Amino acid sequence: MKLETIALHGGFDSDPATKAVAVPIYQTAAYAFDSAEHAAALFNLEVEGHRYSRISNPTNAVLEQRVAELEGGVGALSVSSGQAALYYAALNVTEMGRNIISVPQLYGTTYTLFAHILPKLGVQVRFAKSDHAADLETLIDADTRAIFCETVGNPAGNVCDLEALATSAHRHDLPLIVDNTVATPMLVRPVDYGADVVVHSLTKFMGGHGTTLGGIVVDCGSFPWAQHGPRYPMFTEPDESYHGLVYTQHYGNAAFIGRCRNVYQRAMGAVLAPMNAFLLLQGIETLGVRIDRHVENARKVAEYLNADPRVTSVNFAGFADNPYHPLVVKYLGGRACSLMTFDIRGGLPAGLRFYNALKLFKRLVNLGDAKSLACHPASTTHRQMTPAEQLAAGVGPGSIRLSVGIEHIDDILADLDQALAAAAA
Ligand SMILES: Cc1ncc(COP(=O)(O)O)c(C=O)c1O
Repeated sequence: MKLETIALHGGFDSDPATKAVAVPIYQTAAYAFDSAEHAAALFNLEVEGHRYSRISNPTNAVLEQRVAELEGGVGALSVSSGQAALYYAALNVTEMGRNIISVPQLYGTTYTLFAHILPKLGVQVRFAKSDHAADLETLIDADTRAIFCETVGNPAGNVCDLEALATSAHRHDLPLIVDNTVATPMLVRPVDYGADVVVHSLTKFMGGHGTTLGGIVVDCGSFPWAQHGPRYPMFTEPDESYHGLVYTQHYGNAAFIGRCRNVYQRAMGAVLAPMNAFLLLQGIETLGVRIDRHVENARKVAEYLNADPRVTSVNFAGFADNPYHPLVVKYLGGRACSLMTFDIRGGLPAGLRFYNALKLFKRLVNLGDAKSLACHPASTTHRQMTPAEQLAAGVGPGSIRLSVGIEHIDDILADLDQALAAAAA
């Protein structure tokens, strides 16, 4: 099936119990056992089934199957937010003393997680000086356990050369972990270019309506953990926390996600509520048509801003002279995302006047809503960074980030025009 069809049908035909065609919300904490023997078999992972909703839930399972199919993976684990997905994915491949190599252009809280939280657990994240594969590769050492990037950086708008990063990672027997939140599988499937693990904030374009926090980790099933046992003993040696389970033996090429669920979801419990899984599934149904409209509107907005003398610069990778344009063509089919940043004449004060004058665009810190959204990253999402760190992440002091929605383009442009006029006044 094509992606637009998977978005509607993946992982679900009709409810086996009632024949309901909408995915039922299984609002239950636990599941009845037929007998003590059945319970033991479930806990031994000898039979399929649900035990307790911290570990799995039938509504969440549909979401997991659907996103795994959209991303071309072998399995997925839904969690309560994108941050939880990133945290689990990073913990799942590392131990104290190990490190991850990351591109510098990251969402602000991911940067916080990597720069300040993981090091407290003994896991260092090394930030390359650019997103070029060669710059990441020079930081790899014997303790490196993964390479990390955002397909399209938030808010920098850089497009990572996934194939080059995967080649570098695999040359050193490392997995490539990709945050595909901004692009979504409708624009690019990182697995097609060698990614081994894909994470998402489902809160953004995937859910698409700004109603629901959620995240997901997708196992692409491609990384040969079993071949690299000495580096990744967590997958190949008996897990004492799960009566000696060996994940590569039990789950085969889905060892990564099997361990993520049995270790981190079971013991840390950043669970997605089934109601939220349902809402995210509703959103995903229309992902294809929404992304088409987001992309079309974003190009018109970028062209409008670029032609306006009140605007000093527009960072939109869809422009032919943008350094990332060749990667937009290669990876995104020429369809740059609807996230862009721009600066207006008059610097920070004018930028803030513009921001405060917006009427249709919502002032908030979110992206990927069907509605048009605006954010001032330096004072919000990237506020914890130093000015130098902000610049490295693609955030200028007066930069405004837009997430262009799916409203009628005339209304979007009219709002930008009146706010630019207010900023200039
Ligand atoms: C690229 C990216 N990854 C992860 C996250 C975190 O997602 P959540 O807010 O669902 O925790 C965000 C949030 O903005 C993001 O933009």
